[in-house]
Amino acid sequence: MESARHVFRVFFLLLVAVVVVVLGRSLLVPRSYGAYGPYRFDNVAEQAAARVPQHGGAASCGACHAERLKAVGAGAHAKVSCEICHAPLAQHAKGTTKIADMRIDRSFTLCARCHRKIDGRPAGFPQIDLGQHQGGVEGKACIECHDPHSPKL
Ligand code: HEC
Ligand code: HEC
Ligand code: HEC
Ligand code: HEC
Repeated sequence: MESARHVFRVFFLLLVAVVVVVLGRSLLVPRSYGAYGPYRFDNVAEQAAARVPQHGGAASCGACHAERLKAVGAGAHAKVSCEICHAPLAQHAKGTTKIADMRIDRSFTLCARCHRKIDGRPAGFPQIDLGQHQGGVEGKACIECHDPHSPKL
């Protein structure tokens, strides 16, 4: 009889330990922990909501520059987003007001970034040899001849 009480104590302590672990885990581990991996999944949405988007997309510029958006959409740069050449919307406008000047890069390097002849570019993409184009245009503003918003001549 004496030994049965020892066994009972051991089982009782084990039971208490199991209850503490199960209860503790359900109270302390956040609800969405482990849903998709060893992290709290709700945190993803919380962090995304805490950061205000910087880019608005070309359509957002159209709210105040409708004519310009239409002109770009009709030219060779229809698929080049305004914010690639200028800057993110958030640095220039908030809601319905202009909050700061928009960056305008008039240098040839802006255009050369996409149009300089590089072996790795797809052969069908319009690219120029800066040393040969129109007798050499390295360092020369491309917009002297090309309209950046509708560049085809
Ligand atoms: C390929 C690059 C490029 C793209 C794409 C582009 N821009 Fe521009 N933008 C320029 C450059 C360069 C100038 C400066 C033109 C000049 O001084 O002659 C400019 C000037 C402007 C100006 C100043 C007005 C003016 O003509 O002086 C506005 C407004 C403007 N862009 C709006 C837009 C909007 C809106 C879009 C998208 C619908 C857009 N841009 C797309 C390069 C670009
Ligand atoms: C809430 C209205 C509004 C929105 C949205 C807006 N702009 Fe503007 N923008 C203005 C105003 C106002 C001016 C100054 C007058 C003008 O040139 O029409 C201006 C001027 C500019 C200029 C000339 C430089 C300057 O700051 O004066 C550029 C370039 C420009 N915007 C580009 C853009 C691009 C690219 C977008 C989209 C990412 C955009 N804007 C979205 C209102 C807006
Ligand atoms: C972000 C990349 C990018 C930048 C920056 C850029 N372009 Fe373009 N450009 C393009 C794309 C994409 C096309 C369309 C190519 C196509 O139709 O296959 C294009 C088309 C053109 C064309 C028409 C080529 C043709 O014969 O069809 C010219 C000219 C041109 N760009 C000049 C310029 C100039 C000048 C600048 C600087 C103000 C500039 N581009 C900046 C991507 C860019
Ligand atoms: C002196 C005027 C002038 C200057 C400056 C100039 N271009 Fe051109 N560009 C032209 C003319 C004219 C054409 C059309 C004839 C041709 O294809 O060469 C053209 C055509 C293009 C084409 C289309 C080529 C093709 O194969 O489809 C691209 C891309 C281009 N230019 C980009 C640029 C870039 C980028 C710059 C600046 C680094 C620039 N241009 C500077 C006059 C100029």
